[in-house]
Amino acid sequence: MDRGKDSQSKKLEEIQNEIERLRNLIKRHDYLYYVMDSPEISDTEYDRFFRELELLEKDYPQFLSLDSPTQRVGGAAIEKFDQMTHAIPMLSLSNIFDEGELIDFDSRVRKLLGTSEIVPYVVEPKLDGVAIELIYENGLLLSGGTRGDGSVGEDVTPNIRTIKSIPLSLRSNGPLAKVSLIDVRGEIFMGRADFDALNKERDETGEAAFANPRNAAAGSIRQLDPTVTAQRHLKFLAHGIGRIEGASVTTHMDLLYGLNDLGIPTNLNQTKLCEGVDAALNHYHALNAVRNELPFEIDGAVIKVNSLKWQIQLGTKSRSPRWAVAYKFQPMQAETKILRIEVGVGRTGTLTPVAIMAPVNVGGVNISRATLHNQDEIDRKDIREGDVVVIQRAGDVIPEVVKVKEEFRDSLSVPYYIPDHCPVCGSEAVRLQGQAAKRCANSSCPARLKETVKHFASRDAMDIEGLGDRLIDQLVDKDLVRDPADIYYLDADTLSSLDRMAKKSASNLIRAIERSKMAPAHRFLFSLGIPLIGEMAARLLTQAFGDVSSIQQKDAAQLQEISGIGPEVAQSLVTFFSEPTNVRMIERLISAGVSPSLADEYSVTTASPLFGKTVVFTGSISIPRNDAKKIVETAGGSVGSSVTKKTDFVVVGEDPGSKLDKARELRVRVISEEEFRAFIGFSN
Ligand code: IVH
Repeated sequence: MDRGKDSQSKKLEEIQNEIERLRNLIKRHDYLYYVMDSPEISDTEYDRFFRELELLEKDYPQFLSLDSPTQRVGGAAIEKFDQMTHAIPMLSLSNIFDEGELIDFDSRVRKLLGTSEIVPYVVEPKLDGVAIELIYENGLLLSGGTRGDGSVGEDVTPNIRTIKSIPLSLRSNGPLAKVSLIDVRGEIFMGRADFDALNKERDETGEAAFANPRNAAAGSIRQLDPTVTAQRHLKFLAHGIGRIEGASVTTHMDLLYGLNDLGIPTNLNQTKLCEGVDAALNHYHALNAVRNELPFEIDGAVIKVNSLKWQIQLGTKSRSPRWAVAYKFQPMQAETKILRIEVGVGRTGTLTPVAIMAPVNVGGVNISRATLHNQDEIDRKDIREGDVVVIQRAGDVIPEVVKVKEEFRDSLSVPYYIPDHCPVCGSEAVRLQGQAAKRCANSSCPARLKETVKHFASRDAMDIEGLGDRLIDQLVDKDLVRDPADIYYLDADTLSSLDRMAKKSASNLIRAIERSKMAPAHRFLFSLGIPLIGEMAARLLTQAFGDVSSIQQKDAAQLQEISGIGPEVAQSLVTFFSEPTNVRMIERLISAGVSPSLADEYSVTTASPLFGKTVVFTGSISIPRNDAKKIVETAGGSVGSSVTKKTDFVVVGEDPGSKLDKARELRVRVISEEEFRAFIGFSN
């Protein structure tokens, strides 16, 4: 009996070790992906580890722990945020706008320190985001809050926990390894690409667009439902601290390195230690020169005295420190004239007004279009055709109209109203109560359909290579495609009758369409373009329920049982699946052979002959290399670029290169394309 107990506790110990191993593995890969931007494993492999961990934690809840990567999105929606008092107030910075003011700052610093020596400064980008404090106690993330008025902010811990670059537990590396308590301060922000994508989606769904990435980040971190925050792709970069106990450093630069060693994201790449004010000025100019190339917005440089002893000596005045200033960049604005306003129609039928302007250069980029979002926005700014306007670039590509210069307005100009009819199909355009957007009411409007099909075929969705925008336009215009399911009923003859479609490209496209039938379930779900179902929600849902058909059977309450799925997302799914045309379309997709459940990444088992194997390709095979790579990864294997002892298979196509010789030399198994196809269950 005792022995039974022994072996049971041994088994439990092994399970606990395995859970710990998976957690560390996932944390490491989160860090590589979200902080270092250099993933080492495929999404498929990552998801598999994650799934294994989830299953173990579900079966052995006694080992659950708050710092497990599975516990990022967990909390339910709340009604209001608690207050969070900052132990040390969070100050703001005084702004300066020209070189003279920087020189004055340096003179003041030297005078107060009583030194005529050169002062070393750290010059960092000033991120345009939301100031946040994260409290780590004994290595664990305890809470996180906004700056608020500097003394008291809002406790947004559940939202903070969803940000993948923020570690839930610290590493014990470097000079701060032994820190027992630390208030890490920094900026939560949204990258340009994520900002543009979010605004595009909001335009589509009739929600008001965010004016700039800062507002988007602020709106996202203050969501009462953490599910929504989790889908916003927020990022964090640290730039300072409040309290620190158990460890210390003597300079700001060492502090940044120390934070970095703890696994906290810092902006060291753009940060420079500058000996004196001239060097600081140079780095300010260098940052200004690269600001357009950075993946996030910066609105200036922050110049800080490097020595922490000197910082204390200099102290603070009312609300900002005497040891730092923000040297702002010129705003990225310009003036131009609106030639006319055009209206585009999106996937959900939303009519989006776009100002077509006389081209103008804003911060190095030529601009001739600006989205006006919706009627409310047009009314609020009273934007009219023919107006002279100030425009501003926010995000990567889509500029904004800041204001109209009414003094230049033509006396004959009239207010602009989005038309009452769809500019493409002529159907009535209606504005639903409580929504900012006007929509074309015709669900088979060709403009809507084109956008729906484009989304369906896009890279992150069904990934149908060769089915580009122009082709989709033709297919819809010729009435060959009336919904995404029709794609699977096209034949090579029909395709090759289209403009610019040679026989060869038609047959390649047919193959790409065939291949897409085995897309993983989460991509299939995402491809349906259900409002609020982004890639992440799609993954969570298919991880929990398997395929789309099972998700279709669930009611809102069942959907919400999934951690990470909030009430709005659940309702959106229920609404979509209760629409008979959607149900019919899914049925037609499935009867055409789209079988995502079988190819679901998470259902890949060790039974696949490619599971855990490394494959190298040589010579040309009829499946494009990128697709072949994806297929191997979906089956749980990986693709190598050269043949080594660790290679399991070499797939040989026509005209193989020296890799075949190498394979023979190392006695690595060589297989033909046919055998490879058989392995992956892929014929034709
Ligand atoms: S230092 C006492 N460094 O700008 C120093 N702030 O008005 C406090 N910010 O609320 C901040 N990038 O949120 C610092 N590299 C940087 C920054 C930065 C952006 C924000 C911060 C602060 C505001 C200052």
